[in-house]
Amino acid sequence: MELSGKRIVLGVTGGIAAYKAAELVRLLGKQGAEVQVAMTEGATHFVTATTFQALSGRPVYLDQWDARMPNAMAHIDLSRSADLILVAPASADFLARVVHGLADDLLATMVLARDCPLLVAPAMNRQMWENPATQRNIAQLQADGVQILGPACGEQACGEVGAGRMLEAEEIVEEAIAFFAPKVLTGKKVLITAGPTFEAIDPVRGITNLSSGRMGYAVARAARQAGAQVTLISGPVGLAAPQGVDRVNVRSALDMHAEVMVRAAAADVFIGVAAVADYRVANAADHKLKKDTGGIPPIELVENPDILAEVAAMAGGPFCVGFAAESRNLEEYAQSKRRKKNIPLIAGNLIQDGFGGDDNRLVLFDEAGVHPLTPAPKSVLARQLIEHIAHLTGSH
Ligand code: CTP
Repeated sequence: MELSGKRIVLGVTGGIAAYKAAELVRLLGKQGAEVQVAMTEGATHFVTATTFQALSGRPVYLDQWDARMPNAMAHIDLSRSADLILVAPASADFLARVVHGLADDLLATMVLARDCPLLVAPAMNRQMWENPATQRNIAQLQADGVQILGPACGEQACGEVGAGRMLEAEEIVEEAIAFFAPKVLTGKKVLITAGPTFEAIDPVRGITNLSSGRMGYAVARAARQAGAQVTLISGPVGLAAPQGVDRVNVRSALDMHAEVMVRAAAADVFIGVAAVADYRVANAADHKLKKDTGGIPPIELVENPDILAEVAAMAGGPFCVGFAAESRNLEEYAQSKRRKKNIPLIAGNLIQDGFGGDDNRLVLFDEAGVHPLTPAPKSVLARQLIEHIAHLTGSH
């Protein structure tokens, strides 16, 4: 429940993407947000107020002259009690009205009278989006402090392909969560490795490990939510890239090493969460090994570069954070890795507590000592780790 206690006014304007707003209400509610829907007249041509009332558990506001508020000032009361106004979908017309400060319906009046932040998720035909008038309006909204979510590119309801699609409901929820997260790493460049590596034996076989990538992805998401610019160098995993994170897919430790080394000097923080294979196959075959070509094939191993240790040894390099997944003697092994690799912070966990699952039990080891974190979902631990890093780097 990452939006627990947050009060969000969801404005829905006229556009086919209004149907996605129904799912958005459900997902915001699932994260603990209290959602109050306000619709424009145009929106009611696409989805009914009943749908939103049923999903939000609250009557929907449509009309400037709505008499339900005792003081007849819905436009004031609704925005005063909100932490955020989110308009999704935001039509070209609605954005234009906001730019000019029009107050010709309830939602526009509320936006004009607001004392809370405004996030808008534009949705329109690609020509409407590209039109200089819309682009001027978007630039003006940004200058006025409005946060623009998307739009995405892709196939549109009208059959055309281009920019103007509303972000998916899940993506908008991610943006809302990010909006509320404390910005402890604003402007910092954070480079993260995650997942396993795959060391080829032949074109179809290889050596890998059971790392799911979930902890690394959670750390990337938390860093981005904290305001950092995040690049995630990811081994093969079945996870979607966190919203707003630049992901680079790699397979082997050597690939991961190369992608990290070209970016490390520019990074402020490097977090090695990946379970990098310590060894690779020296005699990997170009063609698939066949069983009946005589004997058991010998596999020769050579050591992979230690990415974390190499980044930590860079003069003027980033603040380095390691991970240690152990099956026993957590403190002893984690501390010795921290010293050996010469890094200021390492997060340790026992494999039986976290590998592959959604929850984990992390212990942070740094110069100041040992900091056990309460067992929690990886998303929560990732946020605590990011806060600890921000504290140690003096970013916060
Ligand atoms: N790491 C790395 N490059 C490697 C190996 C590890 O960047 N070639 C990083 C991991 O991302 C993690 C930390 O180093 O942050 C783990 O340290 P390491 O001692 O290599 O862990 P293990 O491989 O688990 O060591 P061991 O097998 O000795 O327990």
